[in-house]
Amino acid sequence: MNTEIIRMTEDELDEKGLKRAGRILRDGGLVAFPTETVYGLGGDALQPDSSRKIYAAKGRPSDNPLIVHISRLDALDKIAKRVPPAAGFLARAFWPGPLTMILEKSDVVPYETTGGLDTVAVRMPSHKIAMMLIDAAGGYVAAPSANTSGRPSPTTAGHVKEDLEGKIEMIVDGGPVGIGLESTIVDLTEKSPLILRPGYITVEMLEVVLGQEVLTDKAILDKDLGQAPKAPGMKYRHYAPKGRLTIVDGSQQAVTAAIRRLAREARMEGAKVGVICTDETAAFYEADVIESAGARTDEGAIAQHLYGILRQFDEEGVTVMYSEAFSEKGIGQAIMNRLLKAAGYRVLHV
Ligand code: TXA
Ligand code: MG
Repeated sequence: MNTEIIRMTEDELDEKGLKRAGRILRDGGLVAFPTETVYGLGGDALQPDSSRKIYAAKGRPSDNPLIVHISRLDALDKIAKRVPPAAGFLARAFWPGPLTMILEKSDVVPYETTGGLDTVAVRMPSHKIAMMLIDAAGGYVAAPSANTSGRPSPTTAGHVKEDLEGKIEMIVDGGPVGIGLESTIVDLTEKSPLILRPGYITVEMLEVVLGQEVLTDKAILDKDLGQAPKAPGMKYRHYAPKGRLTIVDGSQQAVTAAIRRLAREARMEGAKVGVICTDETAAFYEADVIESAGARTDEGAIAQHLYGILRQFDEEGVTVMYSEAFSEKGIGQAIMNRLLKAAGYRVLHV
């Protein structure tokens, strides 16, 4: 299949291009597009065949449900059986934006889209291109992250191209995304709201709006795999870099000293070594590839760059990687959640 690539920005939308993209989705085809979190691989959420195509293009197991993206609030009533008050509060506070809610699904949502579940994940993204595309497609776009299953989510159209060129009808290139990590997922089908995946919208932000405690699914956030996690996606082996990644945690001085020593030792043993660090520490290291994710206090920049750095290490054939541990402030929780998974929970405390 020839994958058409069209380019635009949020300020200079190509409305004709978006109409064509919408037509592709209505006709059952697939279009990758930018959102504020990561690029999504879109298909019509209400057509079972479109969801099947999404699974095939990603190489994703078909019991791992997709998020339905909407652009108007009334769409929620069509795809959710019931909209609990909490969903209304959260939608008003955080939509459009990087929050996904799990609700009971209505009959119009095919089981192909929800991976066989009676619940549906819904999100209204804030990216202008995404919103226009969802409108043009008729209002319901199923979109997982636009990566091959097992690779980091794409934060640029180039990443999407690497994984999906030739497998989908179109890629809308809207430049690098703003956030860089996937949306927060909150399950509203239980007695208490439950975070299934941390993201830009933090537990604290949700609790302020809901005025009640928000739980986190420990089976997902910790390594406690004894308990079956609720987001089916979490039971699959997650992105694992080709090389062996270790997170080093401690005071800045202890961490830089430890990574310097470990990198030197690994290189003496013939490894190709990569280091993920911050602007403040980059100059201290000697390694084959040294990548700063941003300034230490700029969690936003670190989130934005993390997946791109991991992809680059894979591409350069790095065999051993060390990453500084990052602050868990704000989106830092999500950063460390993804980084820990990539490291297979290998952490060295110094
Ligand atoms: O930021 C995002 O959410 C991006 C952009 C494109 O919007 N999308 C995204 O989708 O990250 P995906 O498919 O890569 O991750 C969705 C996660 C999976 O772990 C899946 O198992 C979980 O959401 N999920 C989807 N529907 C669910 C449901 N009904 N119950 C529990 N978990 C669900
Ligand atoms: Mg994904």
